Amino acid sequence: MADQKKIDKVTGVETTGHVWDDDLQELNNPMPKWWLYIMYATIIWSIGYMVAYPAWPLASDYTRGVLGYSQRQVVMDQIAAGKAAQSKFRDAIAQAELNEIQKNPELLEFALAGGAAAFGGNCAPCHGRGAQGFKGYPNLNDDDWIWGGDLEAVHTTIRHGIRNADEDSRQSDMPKFGQEQLLEKAQINDVAEYALSLSGAATDQEAVGRGAEIFAEQCSACHGENGAGNTELGAPNLANGIWLYGGDKKDVVQSIHTGRGGVMPPWHTRLDDVTLKQLAVYVHSLGGGQ
Ligand code: HEC
Ligand code: HEC
Repeated sequence: MADQKKIDKVTGVETTGHVWDDDLQELNNPMPKWWLYIMYATIIWSIGYMVAYPAWPLASDYTRGVLGYSQRQVVMDQIAAGKAAQSKFRDAIAQAELNEIQKNPELLEFALAGGAAAFGGNCAPCHGRGAQGFKGYPNLNDDDWIWGGDLEAVHTTIRHGIRNADEDSRQSDMPKFGQEQLLEKAQINDVAEYALSLSGAATDQEAVGRGAEIFAEQCSACHGENGAGNTELGAPNLANGIWLYGGDKKDVVQSIHTGRGGVMPPWHTRLDDVTLKQLAVYVHSLGGGQ
């Protein structure tokens, strides 16, 4: 057939010799040479690639390639390098006192970054992403501290938690004045008015007058004579207008009725010492550190 090349009259292109319906001819329009060469090159490249790199799945393994490259190994190496770089700082934090971490700019930066990450993963569900708190879960940005706001106090609170089974947990329970019938309903109303009056929020001055006496007898031992609170006993300040359980009359009555009793888990059982220090420094840095 090669010697009888046929040329299509209309297009002037050589035909393959295939004919349908007597005069429908197939033109021979091969791919351009540059295209073919690129295709051959990719085939050669792929063979080289398959020899050099992991490529072919086998029943239980895969061909590993003569270069022995493994993406997994590269990631492992990067993680190991990252850990090595971190371990310098982690060791230093493990050795340092909390206030030394705060004074050393490099350590501080590392502690704040680690603390923020650990906070997001462990504390945010209760205290909020920005540590702004929710009803029953204190805001950690302000300088109102139930259990103390210096570095050591914050560290202890985080390590051992509050009202849990840990032997060093912070403990202290306000009596359930209503539930345990320590006070009459009317007395609770009066002392609630008095508590509200400490931040200028009382609405019934006569009740405030009656409540003052009850407060002095029943409440001041923990909350202080002027209601400023006591961090030794975890008794909140009642005079600054910041309310853990809400500052509406009904909230305050409820607090006195049930005593609340918020619980925070201990963290030394779940987080390592370095992370706990980082968290203490981080929380302390949020604005209200004492
Ligand atoms: C399960 C909920 C919960 C989680 C999770 C939690 N907390 Fe708390 N946290 C509380 C409650 C409730 C209180 C207040 C308890 C009370 O009434 O004294 C509190 C109090 C605190 C206090 C004391 C505030 C003060 O005014 O003295 C600090 C500090 C604190 N949390 C830090 C953390 C850190 C850091 C984490 C994460 C490692 C964390 N918390 C995780 C519930 C939680
Ligand atoms: C034994 C100590 C103790 C005594 C006595 C006590 N409290 Fe408390 N009070 C606490 C503690 C601790 C809390 C915090 C409870 C919590 O966080 O779950 C608290 C919380 C409160 C709150 C909630 C504060 C807020 O920010 O939401 C109010 C209101 C309150 N007390 C009022 C009173 C009044 C009124 C009396 C007296 C009738 C009284 N307390 C007696 C320890 C005490």
